[in-house]
Amino acid sequence: MAEQNIARANIPPKVTIITGDTLKVIPTLQGMFDFAFIDAEKTEYFQYLKLAEGKLQKGSVILADNAGAFADQMTDYLDYVRNSDKYRSRYVKVGNDGVEISVKL
Ligand SMILES: C[S@@+](CC[C@H](N)C(=O)[O-])C[C@H]1O[C@@H](n2cnc3c(N)ncnc32)[C@H](O)[C@@H]1O
Repeated sequence: MAEQNIARANIPPKVTIITGDTLKVIPTLQGMFDFAFIDAEKTEYFQYLKLAEGKLQKGSVILADNAGAFADQMTDYLDYVRNSDKYRSRYVKVGNDGVEISVKL
């Protein structure tokens, strides 16, 4: 579906789609990232972040979806971004759910 939407948007040279298990894919990614959107297995958010952390720079933004409705499944993630002093982080309510927006310090 993403491939189809990207093709319709006529921006294929700017987008690379990588499929697979996130826990295996993140370590293979090269380069640094300005933005990360996390929206897979809720209990694995903290693992995704720790795997990606070395590829994030000061000012990189991480947006974690479902941080309201599934907060109980990502307590390790939320505790880390809110209390580790490595991020400035805020919960933004969206309808009955919300997102956790974190900026790497
Ligand atoms: C909430 S949905 C994502 C929806 C998507 N962001 C969208 O807007 O269409 C979560 C997806 O993450 C996938 N998923 C869960 N754990 C994963 C993992 N370790 N690696 C890759 N995908 C995973 C699930 O199969 C599911 O399709």
